[in-house]
Amino acid sequence: MTRPTPYIPALRFDWLTRFYDPILRATLKEEPLKRRLVEQVGLRSGQRVLDLGCGTATLTIMLARACPEAEIVGLDGDPRALAIGRDKVARAGLRVELHEGIAQEAPFPPASFDRVVSSLVFHHLDTDAKRAALARARDLLRPGGELHVLDWGRAGSTLMRLAFLSVQLLDGFRTTGDNVRGRLPALIAEAGFEGVAETHRARTMFGVMSLYRATRP
Ligand SMILES: C[S@@+](CC[C@H](N)C(=O)[O-])C[C@H]1O[C@@H](n2cnc3c(N)ncnc32)[C@H](O)[C@@H]1O
Repeated sequence: MTRPTPYIPALRFDWLTRFYDPILRATLKEEPLKRRLVEQVGLRSGQRVLDLGCGTATLTIMLARACPEAEIVGLDGDPRALAIGRDKVARAGLRVELHEGIAQEAPFPPASFDRVVSSLVFHHLDTDAKRAALARARDLLRPGGELHVLDWGRAGSTLMRLAFLSVQLLDGFRTTGDNVRGRLPALIAEAGFEGVAETHRARTMFGVMSLYRATRP
């Protein structure tokens, strides 16, 4: 019997993963949103950051470029996305570690990161998996460390709610419902983070993308 894959691939189906980068570039405000996220993370020399669900490592590479003296680690469940990411990292000539693993069980020592960053991953997780991944992120952060999340957020209007149906049809209603109902901040707070804030909202052709920040007490 084959076990179900413990993650949803970037575009739901394995065969679409190789088209993920060009599709994202063409359809979402990927570059400006990820740039804003990198600015918000504000990495400093010597800090250690985990990109949780790094996929094809676009954000991971942006973080490494923003602060080459920081230690950048990426984790993703999908070996196909990681293979694309490793190739991009090698071509960019950057020092970045990419690991295969599941966010809820991220295999790093407690309190070993200054920042945990995640982009477009939480809408792939059902509520229990979101809770488990957030609890793991909290444990991996040092006291005072920060969580920064970019993902689909509260729709806020009928137009944005309707636009988001296309994402829900692709990625599933079970995993995306918390996002569009605006429940991510509450889930982050429930996992033991403080100062949870939505710092930015951007309307896109598929719905609202939100940027969040929170601190591990
Ligand atoms: C839409 S992609 C986003 C990738 C990247 N963070 C970005 O912003 O382009 C979602 C990624 O989350 C990964 N993923 C989904 N569930 C996961 C889990 N439970 N643990 C680790 N990775 C997971 C998928 O393999 C996929 O690469």
